Amino acid sequence: MAGTPDLLIPEEVLPDLGASWIGSQYHYFRRIGSTNDEALLLARRGAPHGCVVIAEEQTAGRGRMGRSWLSPSGLGLTLSIVLTTALPVRDASQCVMVLALALVKVLASRYGLPAAIKWPNDILIRGKKVAGILSEMQSDQEMVRFIVIGAGINVNQRGEDLEGPFRYPATSVSQALGERVSRKELLIALLREFEREYDRFVRTGLAGFLPELEAASCILGRDIKVLRGREEISGRATGFTPEGGLEIVLENGKKEVLWVGDITTVSEIGALPEQ
Ligand code: BTN
Repeated sequence: MAGTPDLLIPEEVLPDLGASWIGSQYHYFRRIGSTNDEALLLARRGAPHGCVVIAEEQTAGRGRMGRSWLSPSGLGLTLSIVLTTALPVRDASQCVMVLALALVKVLASRYGLPAAIKWPNDILIRGKKVAGILSEMQSDQEMVRFIVIGAGINVNQRGEDLEGPFRYPATSVSQALGERVSRKELLIALLREFEREYDRFVRTGLAGFLPELEAASCILGRDIKVLRGREEISGRATGFTPEGGLEIVLENGKKEVLWVGDITTVSEIGALPEQ
Protein backbone atom coordinates (compact mmCIF):
# COMPACT_ATOMS: atom_id res chain seq x y z
CA MET A 1 0.00 0.00 0.00
CA ALA A 2 1.36 3.46 -0.89
CA GLY A 3 2.94 5.21 2.08
CA THR A 4 3.39 2.12 4.26
CA PRO A 5 6.99 1.14 4.91
CA ASP A 6 7.92 -1.97 3.02
CA LEU A 7 10.39 -3.36 5.53
CA LEU A 8 11.71 -6.88 5.29
CA ILE A 9 11.70 -7.54 9.03
CA PRO A 10 11.22 -11.19 10.06
CA GLU A 11 7.80 -10.43 11.62
CA GLU A 12 6.58 -9.29 8.17
CA VAL A 13 8.18 -11.95 6.04
CA LEU A 14 8.33 -15.24 7.95
CA PRO A 15 4.61 -15.73 8.75
CA ASP A 16 3.81 -15.53 5.02
CA LEU A 17 6.79 -17.52 3.75
CA GLY A 18 5.35 -21.01 4.29
CA ALA A 19 8.56 -22.67 3.12
CA SER A 20 10.21 -25.88 4.21
CA TRP A 21 13.93 -25.12 4.60
CA ILE A 22 14.46 -21.70 3.14
CA GLY A 23 14.45 -19.10 5.90
CA SER A 24 15.46 -21.77 8.47
CA GLN A 25 17.27 -18.78 9.97
CA TYR A 26 16.52 -15.21 8.95
CA HIS A 27 19.07 -12.52 9.77
CA TYR A 28 17.78 -9.03 9.09
CA PHE A 29 19.90 -5.87 9.00
CA ARG A 30 18.90 -2.27 8.42
CA ARG A 31 22.44 -1.67 7.19
CA ILE A 32 25.40 -3.98 6.70
CA GLY A 33 28.64 -4.10 4.70
CA SER A 34 27.71 -7.10 2.55
CA THR A 35 25.09 -9.80 3.12
CA ASN A 36 27.42 -12.30 1.42
CA ASP A 37 30.17 -11.51 3.95
CA GLU A 38 27.75 -11.97 6.84
CA ALA A 39 26.38 -15.21 5.38
CA LEU A 40 29.92 -16.55 4.87
CA LEU A 41 30.67 -15.79 8.51
CA LEU A 42 27.48 -17.49 9.68
CA ALA A 43 28.11 -20.49 7.44
CA ARG A 44 31.63 -20.91 8.86
CA ARG A 45 30.00 -20.97 12.30
CA GLY A 46 27.60 -23.71 11.23
CA ALA A 47 24.51 -21.84 9.96
CA PRO A 48 21.88 -24.29 8.64
CA HIS A 49 20.87 -24.93 5.03
CA GLY A 50 18.48 -22.21 3.95
CA CYS A 51 19.75 -19.53 6.33
CA VAL A 52 18.89 -16.15 4.80
CA VAL A 53 20.71 -12.86 5.38
CA ILE A 54 18.92 -9.77 4.21
CA ALA A 55 19.68 -6.07 4.45
CA GLU A 56 17.81 -2.88 3.66
CA GLU A 57 21.13 -1.29 2.73
CA GLN A 58 24.65 -2.52 2.00
CA THR A 59 27.63 -0.23 2.39
CA ALA A 60 30.14 -2.59 0.76
CA GLY A 61 28.02 -4.78 -1.53
CA ARG A 62 30.17 -6.93 -3.78
CA GLY A 63 29.64 -8.05 -7.36
CA ARG A 64 31.58 -10.44 -9.56
CA MET A 65 35.13 -9.73 -10.63
CA GLY A 66 35.82 -7.39 -7.72
CA ARG A 67 33.10 -4.94 -8.72
CA SER A 68 30.85 -3.24 -6.20
CA TRP A 69 27.07 -3.49 -5.98
CA LEU A 70 25.16 -0.35 -5.06
CA SER A 71 22.32 -0.93 -2.60
CA PRO A 72 20.56 2.28 -1.59
CA SER A 73 18.39 1.86 1.50
CA GLY A 74 14.97 0.27 1.12
CA LEU A 75 14.82 0.33 -2.68
CA GLY A 76 16.10 -3.04 -3.78
CA LEU A 77 16.48 -6.56 -2.47
CA THR A 78 19.91 -7.60 -1.24
CA LEU A 79 19.99 -11.09 0.17
CA SER A 80 22.25 -14.08 0.60
CA ILE A 81 21.31 -17.72 1.16
CA VAL A 82 23.45 -20.41 2.78
CA LEU A 83 23.31 -23.82 1.07
CA THR A 84 24.94 -26.83 2.70
CA THR A 85 24.18 -29.62 0.20
CA ALA A 86 27.25 -31.82 -0.25
CA LEU A 87 27.66 -31.16 -3.97
CA PRO A 88 30.82 -31.91 -5.92
CA VAL A 89 32.80 -28.66 -6.12
CA ARG A 90 32.54 -28.63 -9.93
CA ASP A 91 28.72 -28.39 -9.65
CA ALA A 92 28.64 -25.50 -7.17
CA SER A 93 28.43 -22.73 -9.75
CA GLN A 94 25.26 -24.33 -11.18
CA CYS A 95 23.33 -22.96 -8.20
CA VAL A 96 23.67 -19.51 -9.79
CA MET A 97 21.72 -20.70 -12.81
CA VAL A 98 19.05 -22.25 -10.58
CA LEU A 99 18.57 -18.95 -8.71
CA ALA A 100 18.65 -17.00 -11.98
CA LEU A 101 15.92 -19.23 -13.42
CA ALA A 102 13.81 -18.91 -10.25
CA LEU A 103 13.99 -15.11 -10.51
CA VAL A 104 13.16 -15.07 -14.22
CA LYS A 105 10.13 -17.29 -13.53
CA VAL A 106 8.88 -15.03 -10.73
CA LEU A 107 9.35 -11.87 -12.80
CA ALA A 108 7.47 -13.46 -15.70
CA SER A 109 4.66 -15.17 -13.80
CA ARG A 110 3.92 -12.51 -11.17
CA TYR A 111 4.71 -9.34 -13.05
CA GLY A 112 4.50 -10.36 -16.71
CA LEU A 113 8.03 -9.07 -17.29
CA PRO A 114 10.21 -10.41 -20.14
CA ALA A 115 13.21 -11.16 -17.94
CA ALA A 116 16.09 -13.14 -19.37
CA ILE A 117 19.39 -14.61 -18.19
CA LYS A 118 22.67 -13.27 -19.47
CA TRP A 119 24.90 -16.22 -18.61
CA PRO A 120 26.01 -16.83 -16.02
CA ASN A 121 24.71 -14.44 -13.40
CA ASP A 122 22.88 -11.40 -14.75
CA ILE A 123 19.17 -10.92 -15.19
CA LEU A 124 18.14 -8.43 -17.85
CA ILE A 125 14.84 -6.90 -18.82
CA ARG A 126 14.81 -5.54 -22.38
CA GLY A 127 18.59 -5.49 -22.43
CA LYS A 128 19.04 -3.70 -19.11
CA LYS A 129 20.35 -5.29 -15.94
CA VAL A 130 17.78 -5.73 -13.18
CA ALA A 131 19.66 -8.20 -10.97
CA GLY A 132 23.01 -9.86 -10.42
CA ILE A 133 24.02 -12.99 -8.55
CA LEU A 134 27.26 -13.73 -6.74
CA SER A 135 28.05 -17.18 -5.36
CA GLU A 136 30.94 -18.05 -3.09
CA MET A 137 31.79 -21.31 -1.43
CA GLN A 138 34.02 -23.25 0.87
CA SER A 139 34.93 -26.84 0.19
CA ASP A 140 36.57 -29.83 1.83
CA GLN A 141 38.68 -31.36 -0.91
CA GLU A 142 36.26 -32.24 -3.74
CA MET A 143 32.99 -31.60 -1.90
CA VAL A 144 31.21 -28.37 -1.07
CA ARG A 145 31.03 -27.51 2.63
CA PHE A 146 28.75 -24.58 1.99
CA ILE A 147 27.76 -22.18 -0.75
CA VAL A 148 26.62 -18.63 -0.17
CA ILE A 149 24.51 -17.37 -3.03
CA GLY A 150 23.76 -13.66 -3.02
CA ALA A 151 21.34 -11.71 -5.17
CA GLY A 152 21.04 -8.00 -5.69
CA ILE A 153 17.75 -7.01 -7.34
CA ASN A 154 16.78 -3.50 -8.38
CA VAL A 155 13.15 -3.25 -7.28
CA ASN A 156 11.87 0.27 -6.64
CA GLN A 157 14.80 2.29 -7.95
CA ARG A 158 13.73 5.18 -10.15
CA GLY A 159 15.56 6.60 -13.16
CA GLU A 160 17.86 8.83 -11.12
CA ASP A 161 18.78 5.94 -8.79
CA LEU A 162 19.85 3.89 -11.79
CA GLU A 163 22.17 6.42 -13.33
CA GLY A 164 25.80 6.08 -12.51
CA PRO A 165 29.04 4.48 -13.48
CA PHE A 166 27.47 1.06 -14.00
CA ARG A 167 28.99 -1.50 -16.27
CA TYR A 168 25.59 -2.27 -17.81
CA PRO A 169 22.62 -0.04 -18.42
CA ALA A 170 20.37 -0.71 -15.43
CA THR A 171 16.67 -0.96 -14.81
CA SER A 172 14.43 -1.92 -11.91
CA VAL A 173 11.32 -4.05 -11.59
CA SER A 174 9.19 -0.97 -10.93
CA GLN A 175 10.70 0.93 -13.83
CA ALA A 176 9.99 -1.95 -16.20
CA LEU A 177 6.47 -2.30 -14.80
CA GLY A 178 5.59 1.36 -14.41
CA GLU A 179 4.49 0.96 -10.80
CA ARG A 180 5.89 0.48 -7.32
CA VAL A 181 6.38 -3.11 -6.23
CA SER A 182 6.11 -4.72 -2.80
CA ARG A 183 9.61 -5.93 -1.99
CA LYS A 184 8.14 -8.29 0.59
CA GLU A 185 5.93 -10.02 -2.01
CA LEU A 186 8.79 -10.30 -4.46
CA LEU A 187 11.11 -11.66 -1.78
CA ILE A 188 8.64 -14.30 -0.62
CA ALA A 189 7.83 -15.37 -4.17
CA LEU A 190 11.54 -15.65 -4.99
CA LEU A 191 12.44 -17.62 -1.87
CA ARG A 192 9.59 -20.08 -2.47
CA GLU A 193 10.43 -20.51 -6.14
CA PHE A 194 14.11 -20.97 -5.37
CA GLU A 195 13.32 -23.60 -2.74
CA ARG A 196 11.24 -25.52 -5.30
CA GLU A 197 13.80 -25.22 -8.06
CA TYR A 198 16.74 -26.03 -5.81
CA ASP A 199 15.07 -29.22 -4.55
CA ARG A 200 14.52 -30.21 -8.19
CA PHE A 201 18.17 -29.41 -8.96
CA VAL A 202 19.35 -31.68 -6.14
CA ARG A 203 17.10 -34.48 -7.48
CA THR A 204 17.82 -34.17 -11.19
CA GLY A 205 20.97 -32.12 -11.62
CA LEU A 206 21.14 -29.23 -14.05
CA ALA A 207 20.43 -31.50 -17.04
CA GLY A 208 16.69 -31.33 -16.37
CA PHE A 209 16.83 -27.52 -16.48
CA LEU A 210 18.44 -27.14 -19.89
CA PRO A 211 15.28 -26.52 -21.96
CA GLU A 212 14.09 -23.84 -19.52
CA LEU A 213 17.54 -22.30 -19.20
CA GLU A 214 17.88 -22.13 -22.96
CA ALA A 215 14.42 -20.58 -23.31
CA ALA A 216 15.24 -18.02 -20.61
CA SER A 217 18.60 -17.06 -22.09
CA CYS A 218 19.06 -13.77 -23.94
CA ILE A 219 22.33 -14.81 -25.56
CA LEU A 220 21.66 -18.08 -27.36
CA GLY A 221 21.79 -17.81 -31.12
CA ARG A 222 23.53 -14.46 -30.81
CA ASP A 223 27.05 -13.28 -31.48
CA ILE A 224 28.79 -12.46 -28.25
CA LYS A 225 32.10 -11.22 -26.96
CA VAL A 226 33.28 -12.71 -23.68
CA LEU A 227 36.12 -11.55 -21.48
CA ARG A 228 37.95 -14.47 -19.88
CA GLY A 229 40.68 -12.90 -17.82
CA ARG A 230 42.42 -10.62 -20.30
CA GLU A 231 41.42 -12.69 -23.30
CA GLU A 232 38.47 -11.61 -25.44
CA ILE A 233 36.61 -14.47 -27.11
CA SER A 234 34.15 -13.84 -29.97
CA GLY A 235 31.66 -16.35 -31.23
CA ARG A 236 28.04 -17.44 -31.40
CA ALA A 237 26.39 -18.75 -28.23
CA THR A 238 24.73 -22.05 -29.10
CA GLY A 239 23.69 -23.78 -25.87
CA PHE A 240 24.50 -24.87 -22.35
CA THR A 241 26.09 -28.11 -21.21
CA PRO A 242 24.43 -30.25 -18.49
CA GLU A 243 27.21 -28.98 -16.21
CA GLY A 244 26.37 -25.31 -16.78
CA GLY A 245 29.07 -24.42 -19.30
CA LEU A 246 28.31 -22.14 -22.24
CA GLU A 247 28.84 -23.66 -25.68
CA ILE A 248 30.03 -21.24 -28.31
CA VAL A 249 31.13 -21.57 -31.91
CA LEU A 250 34.19 -19.41 -32.43
CA GLU A 251 34.66 -17.21 -35.49
CA ASN A 252 36.99 -19.90 -36.93
CA GLY A 253 34.20 -22.50 -36.64
CA LYS A 254 35.73 -24.32 -33.67
CA LYS A 255 33.45 -25.22 -30.78
CA GLU A 256 34.40 -24.29 -27.24
CA VAL A 257 32.80 -24.57 -23.82
CA LEU A 258 33.25 -21.64 -21.45
CA TRP A 259 33.01 -22.13 -17.69
CA VAL A 260 33.69 -18.58 -16.56
CA GLY A 261 33.62 -15.26 -18.31
CA ASP A 262 32.01 -11.90 -18.57
CA ILE A 263 29.90 -11.26 -21.64
CA THR A 264 30.57 -7.71 -22.76
CA THR A 265 28.64 -7.61 -26.04
CA VAL A 266 25.55 -9.39 -27.33
CA SER A 267 24.41 -8.77 -30.91
CA GLU A 268 21.10 -6.84 -30.99
CA ILE A 269 21.53 -5.87 -27.33
CA GLY A 270 24.76 -4.17 -28.38
CA ALA A 271 27.93 -3.22 -26.61
CA LEU A 272 27.57 -2.84 -22.88
CA PRO A 273 29.26 0.35 -21.69
CA GLU A 274 32.42 -0.07 -19.60
CA GLN A 275 32.40 0.93 -15.98
C1 BTN B 1 27.04 -8.98 -10.03
O1 BTN B 1 26.18 -8.52 -10.78
O2 BTN B 1 28.26 -8.88 -10.27
C2 BTN B 1 26.62 -9.71 -8.79
C3 BTN B 1 26.00 -8.76 -7.80
C4 BTN B 1 25.62 -9.46 -6.51
C5 BTN B 1 25.16 -8.48 -5.47
C6 BTN B 1 24.57 -9.17 -4.27
S1 BTN B 1 23.71 -8.05 -3.22
C7 BTN B 1 23.57 -9.27 -2.01
C8 BTN B 1 24.87 -10.02 -1.97
N1 BTN B 1 25.82 -9.35 -1.11
C9 BTN B 1 26.86 -8.85 -1.79
O3 BTN B 1 27.81 -8.22 -1.30
N2 BTN B 1 26.74 -9.15 -3.08
C10 BTN B 1 25.53 -9.91 -3.36
